[in-house]
Amino acid sequence: MNRKIFVTGATSGIGLECARAFAQDGDNVLIAGRRADRLAAIKEDFEQQYGIRVDTLVLDVSKREDVDAKVKPAIEAFGGIDVLVNNAGLAQGLDPFQDSTVEDAVTMINTNVLGLLYVTKAVLPFMIDKNEGHIVNMGSTAGIYAYPGGAVYCATKAAVKMLADGIRMDTIATDIKVTTIQPGIVETPFSEVRFHGDAERAASVYAGIDAVQPQDVADVVLYVTNQPKRMQITDVTIMANQQAAGFMVHKK
Ligand SMILES: NC(=O)c1ccc[n+]([C@@H]2O[C@H](COP(=O)([O-])OP(=O)(O)OC[C@H]3O[C@@H](n4cnc5c(N)ncnc54)[C@H](OP(=O)(O)O)[C@@H]3O)[C@@H](O)[C@H]2O)c1
Repeated sequence: MNRKIFVTGATSGIGLECARAFAQDGDNVLIAGRRADRLAAIKEDFEQQYGIRVDTLVLDVSKREDVDAKVKPAIEAFGGIDVLVNNAGLAQGLDPFQDSTVEDAVTMINTNVLGLLYVTKAVLPFMIDKNEGHIVNMGSTAGIYAYPGGAVYCATKAAVKMLADGIRMDTIATDIKVTTIQPGIVETPFSEVRFHGDAERAASVYAGIDAVQPQDVADVVLYVTNQPKRMQITDVTIMANQQAAGFMVHKK
């Protein structure tokens, strides 16, 4: 399709598969994350496999000065932007709120809410100048249904949804589209990050569930960005067949 797609958190999981889906579709991708080695390896792989252009950006979305200094020049060098996938995000811990640390809460808020806000602020002027573009935010079913031990993470994902809805209103006079994707449990390194590297505990989250895969979410992201200009898909919720609400799952 030869569009220009910017994916944050493209070094792993859902973001990596979104970048791949766009690359397979013939779009050029600007991929961002903190891990430079992974970005370099993905660039080489995608350029070879899909014959598209891949630009990389080592970026910590939670650091405003990093975003302010790097995003605008990266988009200029890339030649513009058609789609932003605001995917970078994480959960930290699953302890009851009263036992959780303020440090974990601050990391989640700084990454999932402020990081998304900084990146969107840096990207929107390019879309407003062109009077078109598509912002796809990675929310979560956690933004719809709270669950025990998830108070702060759920609050950040509810904020992602509300930011999307508000920005859609504020840009209504333009042809910019805004979408929130709200996946349930998806099998990625997300749980290992949440449990601070405890792989065994992370694996238990997906045990007994035919979990949604990151490629499934990427297919939906590609679909919502491939609709006619007249149509905007505002929200999509995706769950495993064995999930019915936040952490309500039936394990086989
Ligand atoms: N897996 C699920 O069950 C699930 C469900 C609903 C929603 N989500 C959401 O989906 C998104 C992707 O998660 P995932 O499941 O794919 O997990 P993942 O495999 O751990 O990927 C997270 C990505 O975010 C990036 N990231 C984290 N902190 C960052 C920061 N400060 N600056 C820049 N990039 C950062 C990571 O890259 P670096 O480490 O290289 O920076 C990585 O590429 C998140 O927003 C998550 O909340 C996940």
